Amino acid sequence: MLDNVPFDPRALRNAFGRFASGITVVSLTDDQDRPTGVTVSSFSSLSLDPPLCLFSLGKTQASRKWIESGAGFNVNILGHGQSAAAWQFAKPLEDKFEGLDWFPGRNGLPVIAGALCHFECTKWNLYDGGDHVIVVGHIEHFIEGDGDPLVFYRGKMATVAE
Ligand SMILES: Cc1cc2nc3c(=O)[nH]c(=O)nc-3n(C[C@H](O)[C@H](O)[C@H](O)COP(=O)(O)O)c2cc1C
Repeated sequence: MLDNVPFDPRALRNAFGRFASGITVVSLTDDQDRPTGVTVSSFSSLSLDPPLCLFSLGKTQASRKWIESGAGFNVNILGHGQSAAAWQFAKPLEDKFEGLDWFPGRNGLPVIAGALCHFECTKWNLYDGGDHVIVVGHIEHFIEGDGDPLVFYRGKMATVAE
């Protein structure tokens, strides 16, 4: 049992898992300008004016320091054929982009080739969110693609049937 949690955290995690979401990879660069990224299902649209989006990042995640020290990040919405990339960015690998196609966005930060959409963000603000940091990005540029999304539900990846 965690401090301050009045019920079984696993039960809470399972209940949260009843919310089906898309899957994104937040991509950025480390302190040596190497591309890196993290799989994130907590992405959400936030505001149209100004154009904002958000996600939450666990405070113990290795990528937190690059979010905190960097000026921005890209959010890539994954398509239904990109589950291998989603699992790859969810592992603590030395080279998260190994074997994956990517290109630099307008902001110079990595974009995953074949992603459904990507949003290029500057860092708007960070907020405390318990054991996570709530990261709000200001969208400077985006490209909307086409195709079916990758979906995450109850710990599994799937896609949507029309
Ligand atoms: C489908 C899926 C969704 C995830 N969503 C999040 C998330 O929203 N926030 C988060 O901090 N970690 C999330 N994770 C876990 C991170 O991707 C994982 O811990 C990763 O290794 C963190 O990368 P880092 O160690 O380079 O920071 C998710 C993992 C998966 C498989």
